[in-house]
Amino acid sequence: MTTILVSSQKIIDQSADGFGFLLPEKDMSSADLKACEKEFDISISDYLKKHDFTGKLMQTFAVPVMKKNKMYHIICVGLGSKKDTTIENYRRALAHLYRQAAAHKATTLAISMPAASLFDTSIEELGQQTATILDMTAYHFDAFFSKENRQKTELTKIVLCTSSATKTKLEKGVRAGNIIGKAVNKAREWVNTPPSDLTPPDLAKYAKAIAQKNKLKFTQFSEKEIIKKGMGGLAGVSRGSEQDCQLVVLEYKTNKKNADTIAFVGKGITFDSGGLSLKPAVHMETMKEDMSGAAAVIATMEAIAQLKPNVNVIGVTPLAENLPSGKATKPGDIVRFYNGKTAEIKNTDAEGRLVLADALAYVAKHYKPDAILDIATLTGACAYALGPFHTGLMSQHDDLVEIVEESAEHSGDHVWRLPLTDDYKAAIKSDVADICNIGSNKYMAGAVTAAHFLKHFVGDIPWVHLDIAGTAFNVPDRPYYRSGATGVGVRLMTDIAQHWK
Ligand code: BES
Ligand code: MG
Ligand code: ZN
Repeated sequence: MTTILVSSQKIIDQSADGFGFLLPEKDMSSADLKACEKEFDISISDYLKKHDFTGKLMQTFAVPVMKKNKMYHIICVGLGSKKDTTIENYRRALAHLYRQAAAHKATTLAISMPAASLFDTSIEELGQQTATILDMTAYHFDAFFSKENRQKTELTKIVLCTSSATKTKLEKGVRAGNIIGKAVNKAREWVNTPPSDLTPPDLAKYAKAIAQKNKLKFTQFSEKEIIKKGMGGLAGVSRGSEQDCQLVVLEYKTNKKNADTIAFVGKGITFDSGGLSLKPAVHMETMKEDMSGAAAVIATMEAIAQLKPNVNVIGVTPLAENLPSGKATKPGDIVRFYNGKTAEIKNTDAEGRLVLADALAYVAKHYKPDAILDIATLTGACAYALGPFHTGLMSQHDDLVEIVEESAEHSGDHVWRLPLTDDYKAAIKSDVADICNIGSNKYMAGAVTAAHFLKHFVGDIPWVHLDIAGTAFNVPDRPYYRSGATGVGVRLMTDIAQHWK
């Protein structure tokens, strides 16, 4: 665990072995840097000059210094020129600074906080982003290593050094940022956990524990109840598995009078083998990630319970395993959903839309929320279309899209809109049921035709669908991630709730 503190004491008075600086291009005027130069009796600026460090974006330079026989590191990371100083580049530079400090074996890092105005943001907001990113960067999935040395936390303490005038605001942001960062990491931990160690009942149990600890209303339906309620999509996907499927609902209620209600619905396939339409081995390798949407929703509900935004929030997760067996749903079968609609199953690997259909129909009927957002590792097509850096967004409700896009920019969970036009509606026609669970080849656009399937279950409620197949797992080149789960969606959904009007 890395502890993040805020201090208005001088940076050189921190008992740290690493001193971190985020420097704008061609601006070495930092008073904290000058204090370090004096303390260690060394001209860092000369050093930087000699090594052509000008503060270009992500340019890095670490200087080892000695005092009374003890070694310290002064680490500088460039923030670039005015056009580079976006909040996303701040997140990356900060994470990079963390990695550099860890690489130089620092255990306590004192960071000289840059001015919030550099990034056109508030002190509180900068504090929130800073804590979230540092928590995310520190996260490491090490539960299954046997050797102790692979389990070590790198930096145990980080002190954010700021002026006494800004301390309170920064602290407030750090508190919120820590809540969000911990939630992101909780989602990552569940996704990274091997699929046999995290079954639908296991994840439901974790959701229940969160509800009890944070005073959220908790509802859970067993497979028997799911069948009885007529949720044939969720039950049908689970039929091949020995594990019971679950539907879990978490509810946060704000104290604000007449507040809106928003619903988050997350796909929770704890393992996706494809079912009888079995996946090839390479595609199956990472399919423990197929509950990333559910993990994000449950973790977000915990963050929301602690941040207490002015909006009611419902978190819904259909949880199941998709496995082949003598009992499994077969291609050619027809299932009936909670809202009475039927679907022909042509491919049992298109199971995400089937479990979401029942969850969406359930939340639409029982809560009539003002907005629904679903989040799902739904299609390989989306991952291929957009790659690992943008979550696919599909919707026909422009007002809601605007809200989600703004929160995406703001939170760092970036989205890219795909065209959910009516042109693609006909792709999921079926000869034998209301709709078919895969799109006709003629229409291609697999991410969009999947969204059209979901559209049959939300009625007239403003709805946004997020496809995180490309962004949930093994995202390269981002210094705040590592291999494995990203926790995508937690920052975005929390931001939507925090800023809901
Ligand atoms: N879980 C997969 C989608 C996926 C692919 C997630 C890659 C993460 C990474 C989903 O259930 C699936 O298998 N979708 C099929 C749909 C097809 C049969 C219409 C796909 O994308 O191939
Ligand atoms: Mg079962
Ligand atoms: Zn599948």
